[in-house]
Amino acid sequence: MTTSPDLAALLERLRTHDVGPDREDAPVAVDPADRLLLDEAAPLLAGVAPGAVAVVDDRYGALTLGAALLTGAGPAGGRVRVHQDACTAEAALDANARAAGMATAYDRRGLDAGLLAGARVVLLRLPRGLAALRDVAEHVARAAGPDVVLLGSARVKHMTRAMNDVLAESFGEVRASLARGKSRVLVASAPRPARPLTYPVVTDLADVGLRVAAFGAAFAGAGLDLGTRFLLDRLGADDGPTPGGQGAAPRDVVDLGCGTGLLAAWAARRWPDARVVAADRSDAAVRSTALTARENGVADRVRTVRDDAGATLADASADVVLLNPPFHDGAAVRTDAAHRMFATAGRVLRPGGELWCVWNSHLRYRPALERAVGPTTQVARDPRFTVTRSVRR
Ligand SMILES: C[S@@+](CC[C@H](N)C(=O)[O-])C[C@H]1O[C@@H](n2cnc3c(N)ncnc32)[C@H](O)[C@@H]1O
Repeated sequence: MTTSPDLAALLERLRTHDVGPDREDAPVAVDPADRLLLDEAAPLLAGVAPGAVAVVDDRYGALTLGAALLTGAGPAGGRVRVHQDACTAEAALDANARAAGMATAYDRRGLDAGLLAGARVVLLRLPRGLAALRDVAEHVARAAGPDVVLLGSARVKHMTRAMNDVLAESFGEVRASLARGKSRVLVASAPRPARPLTYPVVTDLADVGLRVAAFGAAFAGAGLDLGTRFLLDRLGADDGPTPGGQGAAPRDVVDLGCGTGLLAAWAARRWPDARVVAADRSDAAVRSTALTARENGVADRVRTVRDDAGATLADASADVVLLNPPFHDGAAVRTDAAHRMFATAGRVLRPGGELWCVWNSHLRYRPALERAVGPTTQVARDPRFTVTRSVRR
């Protein structure tokens, strides 16, 4: 299959708008998995209106803008619908759309019937997590039309047979394309009759005295990440330092990169007079956090915010920041988001406020924490994890 000249020219113009440093392994705006997906979908897209196309988890806009071009979307032709879990991906799509003069080619929706009702073609960048894939597949099978075709692509090295099995739970037919450019497309059709949605999953984490709620794409699902457990063990310990020390209990707490919001729920329970802000770039994370707060009876004091590395939080507004920073972006190991979160912690903490951070011991973040926040001491360490306390100068 060959890409049309118009599509090739559009894809050529897309940029990542990445805030991270330039690196050899930095992501590219359009990769072979995007190109293969657009080529596989082109015959289907030629026969449908833009409003019958939904795009899920486009990375930088290639799928949304490519589908918009191939279906003739725009002010007169109707719009493609799109859902992206990360607000950073939304920002990249918007920037590329503005640059291409295609800002009116799509509408943004949540992962729900508003995205999928009447959809006949769904384009998906396959998420790495099976729970995230199951969440999308169940929504598509339930809300889209009976003739819907879902096409999901990824690099082959990030694909497993289990992805076919997860799609087969929701679709009667699942097949894989030939590989090209070390990428492959899974094509699912014949949606099965709707069953109850699997997500959110809610479980009791009895050993830490919390309940957790998780939508499919939320980090660690309805479990407890080992690093988070290590941090909670230290935060709740009777011996050693605790946030706020012997002084007044913190009034304003931030859970930065909140995932399912376990740190936020823990803080709201630990300090009954505190207000907690839980921030994450992921839509599934902030929706999970709101439910986790409700499950733990603290919804009135936990506010969720969806932004990039806490960018919208006010300066000098927090007494304590709790942080288990990301060190992956999709499949790539990247620490630039972690460093931007350290900078955010330095900015949002009041003088004397504390950042409590857990990190993989091999990452040696201490000098960066000293620079971004202030004097940093090690509270606990084992071969895998280190917990530090940094006091804002
Ligand atoms: C290691 S997880 C920790 C989640 C949760 N705090 C916990 O302890 O279980 C890191 C979180 O950071 C989020 N994240 C990654 N990059 C981000 C960014 N640029 N801005 C905001 N959140 C981000 C991820 O979505 C993920 O939920």
